[in-house]
Amino acid sequence: MKVQPKGGNMDRRQFVASCSAAMMASWLGSRAEGEAWAGMPKKDKTIRRVIIDTDPGVDDAFALMLAMRSPELKIEAITAVAGNVPLELTLPNALRMVEICERTDIPVAGGASEPLLRKLVTAAYAHGKNGLGGVEFPAPKTKPVPEHAAELIARLIRQYPGEITLVPIGPLTNIALALRSDPGMATIVPGIVLMGGSLSGGNVTPAAEFNFYVDPEAAAIVFDSGIPITMVGLDVTHKVELTDERLVRLEANKTQVSQAAARIARSITETYRRAGHPGWPILNDPLAVSALLDPAILKLTDYHVEIETTGALTAGESVGYRHGDVRTAAPLQSSGGAVPESAAFHSNCKVGTGVDVQRFFELLIQRLG
Ligand code: BDR
Ligand code: CA
Repeated sequence: MKVQPKGGNMDRRQFVASCSAAMMASWLGSRAEGEAWAGMPKKDKTIRRVIIDTDPGVDDAFALMLAMRSPELKIEAITAVAGNVPLELTLPNALRMVEICERTDIPVAGGASEPLLRKLVTAAYAHGKNGLGGVEFPAPKTKPVPEHAAELIARLIRQYPGEITLVPIGPLTNIALALRSDPGMATIVPGIVLMGGSLSGGNVTPAAEFNFYVDPEAAAIVFDSGIPITMVGLDVTHKVELTDERLVRLEANKTQVSQAAARIARSITETYRRAGHPGWPILNDPLAVSALLDPAILKLTDYHVEIETTGALTAGESVGYRHGDVRTAAPLQSSGGAVPESAAFHSNCKVGTGVDVQRFFELLIQRLG
């Protein structure tokens, strides 16, 4: 965990903070002007530009479908990263999703095939070997764009300064690579709305949530970037279970998108049952997307969050301060190091701490239908 000492690096922090305030204002107000769409009140006729970085992934597939079926979002790119399954699968899975949603106008790029420093750990046990619950969709005809995800992210952010919200729903490797290649871009990103982390225990280790566990160093770079973050973590996502009743409602919608989503969910649920697991698929990633669509779905609370990158049992843990000075561990006597200064609390993150589950599923089922 890296903590700024009191007074340390304040110029940059103040600069970032003032930029962020201006950008937050523009983020909340009008951004990319879009065409009006039916049913939206006049004052809401704005469209937010987003880049979705993803590792499909059962719940990633749902998140992509929800985003692509939501007129409030102008998806400038979908970028794939290794995570739930290797990149050789997440990239074609992302392409399959744009085809199912008939949104092949959206550029899809491949990115990192492994975390910044660590060996890739996947989660095929939760997503099926192919990442889509074992459902075999046809090989995509659409090709990825010939640009690395990190380059595409950095280029688009420069092309639309202050306008692109990043929506990472996998390990943060691509976002960290983009920030590392162009650190100045942090001041022109209005916000990151991500699925990852937890302030109440992990799902891979007792400390770490999967996306942060896979690439803790990348998560630390993102949280240290000064970009305002909305962290939709396990604290809330564990409540959005795709129960049988909800799945039946999805299956009843006869659209291509709803049917594809339902097949994925039905298949992975059957896999869980065969393995003796009684739970339902958890829709972590679409809950993060929903935060961009309906602010009433999540309750957000200001926190200071830092990412633990060390410790055999703790790497990838997201440590949240609600208030009070931020401290690191006391130095070992043998280190000869000085006792670290504490840093005054400042919020770098809004954390999802409450969720209207019913409202989320109404939105999801309606949009996919
Ligand atoms: C996160 O990890 C992945 O398995 C899911 O797609 C989600 O992004 C949940 O911990
Ligand atoms: Ca994911």
